[in-house]
Amino acid sequence: MPQHLAIIMDGNGRWAQSRGLSRKDGHKRGAEVLRTITQYCAQNVCTQFLTLYAFSTENWNRPTIEITFLMHLLEDYLESETQTYLQNNIRFQTIGDLSKFSQRLNDKIAQLKRVSENGTRLTQILALNYGSRDEIVRAANKLACAQIPVTQDSLNNALDTAQFPNVDMLIRTGGEQRLSNFLLWQSHYAELFFSDTLWPDFTTYELQQLLKSFEQRTRRFGGL
Ligand code: FPP
Repeated sequence: MPQHLAIIMDGNGRWAQSRGLSRKDGHKRGAEVLRTITQYCAQNVCTQFLTLYAFSTENWNRPTIEITFLMHLLEDYLESETQTYLQNNIRFQTIGDLSKFSQRLNDKIAQLKRVSENGTRLTQILALNYGSRDEIVRAANKLACAQIPVTQDSLNNALDTAQFPNVDMLIRTGGEQRLSNFLLWQSHYAELFFSDTLWPDFTTYELQQLLKSFEQRTRRFGGL
């Protein structure tokens, strides 16, 4: 089993449009699938760390109406899902630069981190206003300010993911085959899986199948 599974949840908009629904409906359904997959990972011990790309540094380029909706959806999700985290023994964490978010959203994020801090079955990490290039630049600046020489270890320890292991398995749904600025440093030897399924249609069954094919991959990390 992967110790760290990362998922790019792509395809909410297309899922909604293909049903004559608004993109908002796609994101709402996407949030439900996010809950289902997180719960499944906790209950079946699929992985110890689950990182999900919820909002990228590039997503600010979307229309304001969609950004505002996603912010509200996130606020509602953090509040309404608190019991899911506690009942399933899940610890909530984030990566990304939270300083661009409202105080209200920051308070809700901090609150859920606080109440779930003793969760031991799974650490769920939401990537919020996250982009690898932004993360690496912030990390390099931290080192420069502290006059710490740049090494692989010092840079790794200055990243948002300092407390988490490298990514073992990365899944992208929605049919595109790219990393979109997600965990570029941490995925240096991740096994990549691309699914044509749009995120709102992604199921625990498909995750199970992908985990089975992960088990069959031979990982050599550059060795023989
Ligand atoms: C990509 O689909 C998805 C996003 C940019 C946001 C991901 C958000 C969710 C899964 C739901 C909300 C999450 C939380 C935590 C409340 P897209 O809009 O790029 O889809 P498209 O490529 O079909 O347009």
